[in-house]
Amino acid sequence: MTRARRHLMYGWMTALATLGSVAVWHSRGKPLEQPIAFSHRVHVVQNKIDCAYCHEHFRRYAVAGTPSVELCVTCHSGLRTSNSEAKKLFTFWEKRHEIPWVRLHQLPDHVVFTHKRHVRAGIACETCHGTIGQSDSFVREVDHSMGKCVDCHEQRGASIECWTCHK
Ligand code: HEC
Ligand code: HEC
Ligand code: HEC
Ligand code: HEC
Ligand code: HEC
Repeated sequence: MTRARRHLMYGWMTALATLGSVAVWHSRGKPLEQPIAFSHRVHVVQNKIDCAYCHEHFRRYAVAGTPSVELCVTCHSGLRTSNSEAKKLFTFWEKRHEIPWVRLHQLPDHVVFTHKRHVRAGIACETCHGTIGQSDSFVREVDHSMGKCVDCHEQRGASIECWTCHK
């Protein structure tokens, strides 16, 4: 890349990063509405269910993985709960519809991210997702902007080459 092009690119990056952080700021702190009021606290804290039971891919793949309605049902069919939110599960299951969960974190398509490499490097879920795994609601607590990725890569000696994270 020529020097001039690089400067132009950094200029754009700063402008876009500023816009990006404003957008993130506005969406942070507000809980997401989900089709079923799922509580991580009830499952993880009260019933000691491991993250990997429901997000089963993070050790081996880029994605962490979304639990299927079938996985929920294998457990819940034995529970005989009177909770009306838990009962909604069976409405989806009877129609063989997956639950249309809303994504909390979503990077743009041009960004490359992999759970496997980070989890294997010993970085805890909490570092990038805050307390969601212990909470009753879906709140975005941690900023996934480029600056945050690059800061940690610098501290930990991981690559900060553009093509590490962009395709
Ligand atoms: C280094 C930061 C980092 C760590 C550590 C991390 N995540 Fe993530 N996670 C992200 C980012 C960034 C996204 C958004 C990825 C995208 O849009 O492609 C994400 C997305 C997700 C998603 C939704 C999409 C998917 O991949 O299924 C789940 C679920 C998730 N993470 C769970 C976890 C769990 C469980 C752990 C711990 C085992 C964990 N994450 C550790 C950064 C991290
Ligand atoms: C490994 C077992 C297990 C799995 C898998 C599981 N649950 Fe649960 N769930 C429980 C237990 C135990 C409770 C607490 C007892 C109860 O409410 O019947 C519970 C409670 C709930 C509740 C009521 C929460 C409250 O406030 O009491 C909802 C809603 C729920 N689960 C939804 C889901 C959904 C959606 C899935 C799939 C993504 C799922 N569960 C997967 C075991 C499980
Ligand atoms: C009983 C199942 C269950 C367990 C156990 C569980 N989760 Fe989840 N989690 C869900 C469901 C359902 C969603 C919403 C669908 C999705 O995004 O995968 C979710 C969503 C998430 C998200 C938001 C993903 C996004 O960006 O949209 C993160 C982050 C997450 N979980 C982290 C964790 C962590 C960390 C743990 C362990 C401390 C954990 N989860 C344990 C069921 C579970
Ligand atoms: C808390 C620290 C931390 C954060 C935050 C973080 N990373 Fe990383 N990342 C690392 C470490 C450490 C490695 C090197 C792991 C290894 O050596 O296998 C890594 C490796 C990677 C790799 C694989 C690099 C390769 O050489 O193939 C990609 C891609 C990546 N990170 C993207 C991201 C993106 C995108 C974000 C932000 C959304 C992010 N990371 C946030 C610490 C972090
Ligand atoms: C460690 C990972 C990482 C590295 C290294 C990295 N980026 Fe990024 N970059 C990101 C992430 C994550 C985003 C998305 C931020 C968001 O959505 O808030 C991003 C966003 C951008 C954007 C904004 C595009 C948009 O859609 O808003 C540009 C331009 C960009 N990066 C250029 C670069 C250049 C040039 C380099 C090399 C000097 C670089 N990046 C290195 C992770 C990285």
